[in-house]
Amino acid sequence: MPARIIGTGSALPALLVSNRELEKIVDTTDEWIRSRTGIESRHIAVEETTTSMAIEAAKKALQDAKVSPEEIDLIIVGTISPDHYFPSTACEIQSALGAANATAFDISAACAGFLFGLGIVDAYMKAGTVRTALVVGAETLSKMMDWNDRSTCVLFGDGAGAAVVRSDESGIMSMVQGSDGARGNALTCEGRRVNNPYKKNDTSLDYTKMNGQEVYKFAVKTVPKSIEEALLKANVKADDVKYFLLHQANLRIIEAVAKRLGQSIEKFPTNLQECGNISAGSVPVLLDHVNREGMLQKGDTIVLAGFGAGLTWGATVLIW
Ligand code: UT7
Repeated sequence: MPARIIGTGSALPALLVSNRELEKIVDTTDEWIRSRTGIESRHIAVEETTTSMAIEAAKKALQDAKVSPEEIDLIIVGTISPDHYFPSTACEIQSALGAANATAFDISAACAGFLFGLGIVDAYMKAGTVRTALVVGAETLSKMMDWNDRSTCVLFGDGAGAAVVRSDESGIMSMVQGSDGARGNALTCEGRRVNNPYKKNDTSLDYTKMNGQEVYKFAVKTVPKSIEEALLKANVKADDVKYFLLHQANLRIIEAVAKRLGQSIEKFPTNLQECGNISAGSVPVLLDHVNREGMLQKGDTIVLAGFGAGLTWGATVLIW
């Protein structure tokens, strides 16, 4: 049976940093950031961590779904900014929730992480091995930034979103996923420097680097194409979709996708103005905001789409 989202939750750091605040620490302007991206502020973690936000989002999603931790069979976390290499963030959530019956692991698919997690859960559910799952996208990207590099640090934010998913008669209608590792250099963040005594002169860069225009071109071409493929697979017309919830990287990308699909921009809710780009957290945080605003009715058809480093992309058509 397909996977259906039955509850959502999200968590954002308390500190909200405006574009004007960033003008004080890096050579940028509110006008540049707004006009090029639509971003007005972003939440930055001070006390919060990837794990603490993931746990808070997961608890809220379980409450929303009215599901107990013992019922969870599988926990998947999409993150590129875990607090540690191991144990996984998913295992930490399992422990914090007391979800003793779950299998838990993380996946690294950057801004497509939540979509890839949903895809894995859907496959497990269709195979009949999992009934209830928790999919989380959680990031503390602020620790991966070079705060002297205006071309990246103004774009990203921290936060986590979660969804409880259950096998049901209807839910995910189609899933399209893809990767292009050959273009991976467009968006990178090196790991920690190697300090073993046998390796000399490790020159790896520690922080996020992006060829913004390459990623932009990739996004405006690949995202509409993957959504069109997902719609075709689901036998759904774009006109019959209530909302398209896209990865929140840039308002101009979202407008270009809406235009390409021939859909009104009103059908593309956004929160990048407040949150910036939260990578794997982006789509589930937006989904939770839309859900909590009461914008979704049971039976609505919606599209979720994520894209980013890897390069990776994913799109799904689902019944709410
Ligand atoms: O989550 C992963 C997905 N990521 C994305 O989808 C990001 C996709 N890319 C983008 O959204 C855009 O390419 C950016 C918003 C990152 C950049 O916008 P752009 O219109 O492509 O600008 P640009 O990189 O071509 O830079 C234009 C100018 C440059 O100055 P010069 O060379 O023309 O003098 C930059 O140095 O803007 C300058 N610039 C800035 N100026 C003020 C770059 N960053 C800033 C900044 N403030 N923060």
